[in-house]
Amino acid sequence: MRMSVIGCGYLGAVHAAAMASIGHDVVGIDTDEAKVCALAAGTAPFFEPGLSEILQTGVAGHNLRFTTDIRAAAGSDVHFVSVGTPQQAGGYAADLTYVDAAMDGLLPHLRPGDVVAGKSTVPVGTAAGLARRVRDTGATLAWNPEFLREGWAVKDTIDPDRIVVGVETVDGSPTEHGARAIEQLRDAYRPAVEKQTPFLVTDYATAELVKVAANAFLATKISFINAMAEISEATGADVTLLADAIGHDGRIGRRFLGAGIGFGGGCLPKDIRAFAARAEELGRSESVAFLREMDAINLRRRERAVQLVLEALDGSVHGKRIAVLGASFKPHSDDIRDSPALDVAVRLHGLGGQVVVTDPAALDNARRVHPHLTYIDDRDAALRDADVVVLVTEWDEYRRQMPPEHAASLVRGKVVVDGRNCLDAAAWRAAGWRYFGMGRP
Ligand code: UDX
Repeated sequence: MRMSVIGCGYLGAVHAAAMASIGHDVVGIDTDEAKVCALAAGTAPFFEPGLSEILQTGVAGHNLRFTTDIRAAAGSDVHFVSVGTPQQAGGYAADLTYVDAAMDGLLPHLRPGDVVAGKSTVPVGTAAGLARRVRDTGATLAWNPEFLREGWAVKDTIDPDRIVVGVETVDGSPTEHGARAIEQLRDAYRPAVEKQTPFLVTDYATAELVKVAANAFLATKISFINAMAEISEATGADVTLLADAIGHDGRIGRRFLGAGIGFGGGCLPKDIRAFAARAEELGRSESVAFLREMDAINLRRRERAVQLVLEALDGSVHGKRIAVLGASFKPHSDDIRDSPALDVAVRLHGLGGQVVVTDPAALDNARRVHPHLTYIDDRDAALRDADVVVLVTEWDEYRRQMPPEHAASLVRGKVVVDGRNCLDAAAWRAAGWRYFGMGRP
């Protein structure tokens, strides 16, 4: 199929390359000239395992190209809209400027029978409004949310755990145009469809809600276990054992019960805020009032990590050398958007600590946003002479490949704050360290 992908950020760049890798003829369109140049040269503009390979194959095979010219969308059968919907500058709601601009640019190039597949995360109700404008051109709008995780984005796009397509419905059934759009998208995702990947057809509102509900649930799961960490701290319980024990209940499950400094990134924080803002507009703020609480718990855990460092250093970090291990919001990513790790580093710096940050992938991004912090590429150099070690992103380099005896030979003070509860506390204590976890005795 011929496809256009409008918006080549995290989602769009991966989507364009992944669609090309399964045999489609794809043009990626973005207004950012530098990004387009990099992608056209087969260079991934961000760290994402496997992306460079499929970009290069697609570009070399001539079934993947990138341009800033929206007219290149003309002639595609399916147009994926994957522009960003950031948090509004002055509030919690989503900023739809880029979605509106993408639609304005695309509409003149649509032909009757084309499918526009919205992938951006939007407030529920957005698609219904856009559908009318798309329909006037003879094309059809579908809403096709994505659930990709950074670090696994290529796999999640080619081989997702479900595909959701929202279309126009009458009395709960797709209209004729909607049914045709569904068939087009089945063709677009052929390899996954042939693998019997669940393919759910819904109305627009449900498709939009699936995305935010999924992220709200994940955020709630993380904040729930972090709330239990707070109770554990007040009672001497160990939240990691608690999570193991409740996680054995198949109805609960152990995944996303990792207590620590909480969630960040470009999706969960902004999506739960936008969801709460949209619910308020709908007169249903009470229904998701808990999301504000989840947000608050999440932010409190960053401060708790700072408190632990203060406790470990007898109340003051002033002049103390603090090795911060990690800057990205999670491992296998160079993304520092709303990163809890960097937030902890910035707070410790603000309290007068001599903070040294290291990370295997995110230092260039971190340096751009927080130039006042000190960054060191080499982990061992960062550890050298540290008074306290603060682990804030659970990269394998720290979790698996940093024996406590080796780390002990480098530091000045054998004190470690494990902001992700990912170290073996007993092994670190046995090597002479004072170990502080999150929600652990
Ligand atoms: C998330 C959703 O998982 C994905 O489906 C959606 O499409 C986009 O948002 P992502 O932002 O890549 O994906 O990160 P995710 O793996 O969900 O982690 C989010 C944050 O939660 C990270 O900061 C991570 O460190 C934190 N987290 C995760 C925890 O604190 N504890 C856990 O147990 C799991």
